[in-house]
Amino acid sequence: MTRAADHPVDPLFVDRWSPRSFTGEAVPETVLKSAFEAARWAPSAQNAQPWRFLVTQRGDAWWDTYLGFLMPRNRLWAAQASALVLILSRRSVERRGEIVENTSHRFDAGAAWANFAHQALLLGWHTHGIGGFDRGSARARLAIPDDFAIEAIIALGRRGDLHELDPEFHSTEAPNGRRPLDEFVFSGTLDVPAFTDGRNAA
Ligand SMILES: Cc1cc2nc3c(=O)[nH]c(=O)nc-3n(C[C@H](O)[C@H](O)[C@H](O)COP(=O)(O)O)c2cc1C
Repeated sequence: MTRAADHPVDPLFVDRWSPRSFTGEAVPETVLKSAFEAARWAPSAQNAQPWRFLVTQRGDAWWDTYLGFLMPRNRLWAAQASALVLILSRRSVERRGEIVENTSHRFDAGAAWANFAHQALLLGWHTHGIGGFDRGSARARLAIPDDFAIEAIIALGRRGDLHELDPEFHSTEAPNGRRPLDEFVFSGTLDVPAFTDGRNAA
C-alpha cells in the first residue's frame, strides 16, 4: 500500500517502515555513529538515559551468536541485515543518593530507538524491530545483569531486492497502514472499544 498521512507531517515519519529484504552490505561506521547519536538525544525521565545498545555487524565475532538468538522465522530474513542491535534498558536509577526503580526505563528506550530508526532512514538505511528472539539465551550468553531489561533486537540494513528475500515474506514486503487519530486520541478520558475478538468487551 502507499502510505498517506491524514494530517500534515514530515515525510520522514510515514516513509519509515520495516522491510525484511536487505542487501547485507557493510554499514559505514559514520551511519552507525549518526544513528546512535540521534538516539543519544532522546528525552528520558531524570535524564537517566536508561537505554543501552549492543551491536554486532555482519561477519564480526558476535554475528552468529546474535543470529542464533532469533526465532527461526526471523532469522530467515534478518541474516541478510548489516547490523543487529540489541536494546536494553536499565530498570533502576539513582535519585538523591538512593537507588530506586525507574518507572519509565522502557518508555525512554522506546524514544531512543525511534530516534535511531529515523536517523538511519535519513541516511538511506532501514531498520526492522525484532521481538521474536530468545531473551533468556541472550541474557545468559551476553551476561546481561537483571537490572537491565531486554527490549528488542533491531536489524539495520540497506533495502534489497525482493528476489533476495525468502518467498515466505514476499506478500508482506510493503509498508502497512495505521489506525486513524480518533481511535487513539481522546478528549479527557479513555474510550475503550471492545477488541473485535471480544476481549475487553464492556
Ligand atoms: C518491538 C518490536 C518488535 C517487533 N518484532 C518483530 C518480529 O519479531 N518479527 C518481525 O518480522 N517484525 C517485528 N516487528 C516489526 C513490526 O511488525 C512492524 O514495526 C509493524 O508492523 C509496523 O510496521 P512498520 O514498522 O513497517 O511501520 C517488531 C517491531 C517492534 C517495534
